[in-house]
Formats: sequence, structure tokens, C-alpha cells
Amino acid sequence: MKKHTLLIAPLAMSLMLPLMLVGSASAFAYSGGGLEGYEVGVKADISGLPRVKQELVVAPALPKHEQTATGGPKIIEVRMVIEEKEIEIEPGVFMWAMTFNGSVPGPIIVAHEGDYIELTLVNPETNSLPHNIDFHASTGALGGGSLTLVNPGEEVVLRFKATRVGTFLYHCAPGGAMIPWHVVHGMNGAVLILPRDGLKDSDGTPLRYDRAFYIGELDYYLPKDANGKYKRYPNPIASFADDMEVMKTLTPTHIPFGGTMGALTGDNAMHANVGESVLFIHFQANRQSFPHLIGGHGDYVWERGNFNDPPAHGLESWVLAAGSASAFIYKFRQPGVYVYLSHNLIEAVLLGAISHVIVDGEWNNDLMEQVSAPRKIE
Ligand code: CU
Repeated sequence: MKKHTLLIAPLAMSLMLPLMLVGSASAFAYSGGGLEGYEVGVKADISGLPRVKQELVVAPALPKHEQTATGGPKIIEVRMVIEEKEIEIEPGVFMWAMTFNGSVPGPIIVAHEGDYIELTLVNPETNSLPHNIDFHASTGALGGGSLTLVNPGEEVVLRFKATRVGTFLYHCAPGGAMIPWHVVHGMNGAVLILPRDGLKDSDGTPLRYDRAFYIGELDYYLPKDANGKYKRYPNPIASFADDMEVMKTLTPTHIPFGGTMGALTGDNAMHANVGESVLFIHFQANRQSFPHLIGGHGDYVWERGNFNDPPAHGLESWVLAAGSASAFIYKFRQPGVYVYLSHNLIEAVLLGAISHVIVDGEWNNDLMEQVSAPRKIE
């Protein structure tokens, strides 16, 4: 089977699923370095570039990184191990997740424009399905998807140049119906490509952030039994036919910020302090979302994560397009609990598209005060 099969029709791909499950480990092997069947016109010259290992971390954290790059371009080495595992979406409700590095969402990768990201993608023998990765930040080969398809027991190394600045989605895209199925089982994450000289406002004035949070918004389509109870399955593939029926309704059963219900609320809330500027990165692979910070604003908003364009200033809500990641910076001016959600309030409150930021500091009565506490109407 050749990589071109990635492009075949969804139905045919579904029918081929059993074949893919037993595909030989060498079926996708190609050592030419580029896309099979095409001559190399531009050779990479990365000799002499320093190599830096980036330790990926679990969301909402970002890996350690510089906001302004020191020195020239680097090769950023990252390693992701794919893990198929059952996760509890809410108490008593389970789903076989397909994960990059064991977490939903997958970890965020950070680089600067001109750097090279070199990913080792590992699909251990303990998994049951082929997986790959499509980086929206990259150029060519279906975002790298054609060059990274690995069967259980295989690993692959992909290097791509960060030529676009911004925040970008990545996701698994193994072909046909497998694409949305893997995505709505957790296989997505984001890449942050910063300008080498850092972020700027619309006047070109440098913007710094004191901390950053990374929020993955998932949409799940979990099947129920005849009694309306969510079904539990013995392995990842067992739910496929049922999942397809729910997915085709386009009506998610859960839309959690952070991969599971309450992953970023209450005791799991994000924390910041008054006076701090916080960078938020938020992706949605499959649907649109309407970011809004209750009690605050988007001071600087890159709605499409497009750092080469000036940010919008002072927004109340904006649109996160399906298949994208957006970014905004807000400087917290008051202490208290802030709610960051999708301002489809049904999706936020009933389906999980919600998170909390707890902010410490001193209250500013000039910005707001309760002039009179609640009292009986006289
Ligand atoms: Cu996958």
C-alpha cells in the first residue's frame, strides 16, 4: 500500500480499515526523505544548526521557551509517543482516547520562525491502529501526514521548517473516516511559532507575557445504549460503528475545554496575579468556538493566530475557526475568579466548553465597586 492511499475516498478507506490493522511494518517505509515519486529540488542545509531538545509538557502548560529568540535558527527536537488509552470524560463515562504523549489535548510545541521542528513520532506495539500527524504549521505532504503514517511497533522522524508565525493546529489524519474519528478521540494539539523578535501590538511595540496557558477544546460524540446510558467498550476499535452514527448527527455529547469535563475548572483552574499579562492559546480541530473571558477582554487578539498581522485590541468575544488555534493576551486588572469559555453558553455550561482562571491581588474600586449590598427594596 502506497502513501497515495491517504487521498482515497472515505468509503474505500473505511473498507480498508481491516487491511490497515494488519498492514506490515514496512508498508510505509520510504527513505528518500521527501514525498515518494517526486525529485528533490531544494535540499535542506541544516549542518551547523544547533540542536535543542524540547521537553513537552501536559496542557495547559507550555514548555520552557524564550519569547525573543537568542541566536540563529535551531533544530528543535521533540518526541511524541502515541498512546491508545481509556479516559474518563466525566464520572462514570469512558472513552478510548487516542493520544499524543498520553494526554488530551496533545502537548503544545513552541519554536521561532526559521527554526526546524524535528519530531520523532512513536507508535508502540501496544497500540492497535496506524496513526500519523498533520501539522498545519508545516508545508507539503498533507502537513507531514503522508510522511508520518506509522503502524503499531514503528516510529518515524519528520523535520519541517517553521516558515509561518502564529498558532497552529496539529492532528492525526490517517485517511478517510479515520481522520475525524481519530480527531474526535483526542488526537490533536497545537504549535506556537513566535516571531524571532517576539510578539508586537498594532504599533509594532513589543508585547511580553508573564505566563501562558494552552487550552485544547475537544468535541466528543459518545454513543448511548437503549436506556440512554453511555456505552463502554473493550478496546479502541469496538466503538467505531456506533461512533460514526453519533458523529454524523454533528451534535457533540461533550465539548470540554482541556479534554475532560472540568479539566480546567475548580481545583484544576489556571492561576495568575493582578498586573500579569497572560497569553492564552486555544484550538478547535472540528467546530467553531467563540472565546470570551467573563469580566475581562482580549487586550490583543490574533483571531486566527496570525502573528504577522496586527492584533485586534479590546475584544469582548471572537471566532475560533474550525481547524485553527487562536491567541490572545490579557493583563489581569482585578482579582477573583474569571471564567474563560465559548460564548455559546449552552455549549459552555451544559457541554463543558468552560474553564476558570483564579487571579490573586488587590481589588481596584475605581474599576468596579458594589455601591450598596443587596437589601430589601424600600
Ligand atoms: Cu491517530
